[in-house]
Amino acid sequence: MTSTNDAPVRLRSEILATPPYAQGVAPAPGGYKLSSNENPFDPLPSVASRALTVADFNRYPDARMPALRAALAERYGVPTENIHVTAGSVALLYQLVSAAAGPGDEYIYSWRSFEAYPGLGVISGARSVQVPNTPSYAHDLAAILAAITDRTRIILLCSPNNPTGTVIAAAEFEDFMARVPATLLVALDEAYCEFVTDGSAVNGRDYIGRYPNLVILRTFSKAYGLAGLRVGYGIGDSRILDAARTAAIPLAVTDAAQQAALASLDAERELMARVAHLTARRDRAVTALRTAGWNIPEAQGNFFWLPLGEQTEHANRLFTDAGLIVRPFPPEGIRVSVGEDAAIATLLSVAETILSDLPADSPARSAQKASTR
Ligand SMILES: Cc1ncc(COP(=O)(O)O)c(C=O)c1O
Repeated sequence: MTSTNDAPVRLRSEILATPPYAQGVAPAPGGYKLSSNENPFDPLPSVASRALTVADFNRYPDARMPALRAALAERYGVPTENIHVTAGSVALLYQLVSAAAGPGDEYIYSWRSFEAYPGLGVISGARSVQVPNTPSYAHDLAAILAAITDRTRIILLCSPNNPTGTVIAAAEFEDFMARVPATLLVALDEAYCEFVTDGSAVNGRDYIGRYPNLVILRTFSKAYGLAGLRVGYGIGDSRILDAARTAAIPLAVTDAAQQAALASLDAERELMARVAHLTARRDRAVTALRTAGWNIPEAQGNFFWLPLGEQTEHANRLFTDAGLIVRPFPPEGIRVSVGEDAAIATLLSVAETILSDLPADSPARSAQKASTR
């Protein structure tokens, strides 16, 4: 592929063809940022002060992250070599795809899902294979299995799925793992697992050590509120994690991030109480919207999905005008993060205006409400 790019040097065409990561924009003063699935609570003082104890930052960190790996190993009941700490779990996603899938190989994931997935293979030359979500915005595990070819090297599963909020049921997951080839790497991305209240959902913790081809990915960015410090981790077979380490940029996790993560584990009770507030806030907002006539898929993360279809950009403008920065994915829908409580009233009122303008056949209208109109 030749590029029309006018860079002053020769660059790889596949890189030029891929847009750089686009971050959610900041809200106007007085507005709310509900676009990046961040935790709206301020950092806990105990966590902030521990991060600031790192005084010798003229030195490189210990790349093995010994203290945090030991704490996580104890928590999950595994040897430390089964834990790999990375600069956010997105780094681990890149490492796993780079380690497993080279030029011409394939990696499969459900779509729509986390916006980083399509770019994960750009550097290694792996081909991204997207399997459409079911009509209820969930993973279609049978279709994912059917998409496996002899070039497939890794499958990404996301539960709860960003941005649609749906989970994979534990029974479905077990059935999937029984069918997937044992030599094929499966990465279970559980960035939002702490927000799950559906007892039938998969929880990677229950499968540690059971499937040698499974790596579980978790993060301190969301429930633990450390998004800006960049720390996540994987749990899995040490040989797979060693391959990820080989594919990693060395020394990417800072000691300040490690200390903040350790302090967060110490403050877990307080942090999980905040998570309980956020899930209750999520459920209140989703219930109010459904009662008003919105069709909202299962919402098990710290966000929910408005399947606005062609009306996505119009609705996004209305949210923005009201000071709410949400995440539009035109022409599919809008993801709204559950942020500050004070944002909810405005959110519900803008949503009411949007709903009243939606065409009768909009996927965002609940079928039940639409038929009784
Ligand atoms: C599904 C999913 N996985 C992974 C990540 C990466 O998070 P982090 O790199 O901050 O750990 C995100 C972030 O939004 C996400 O939504």
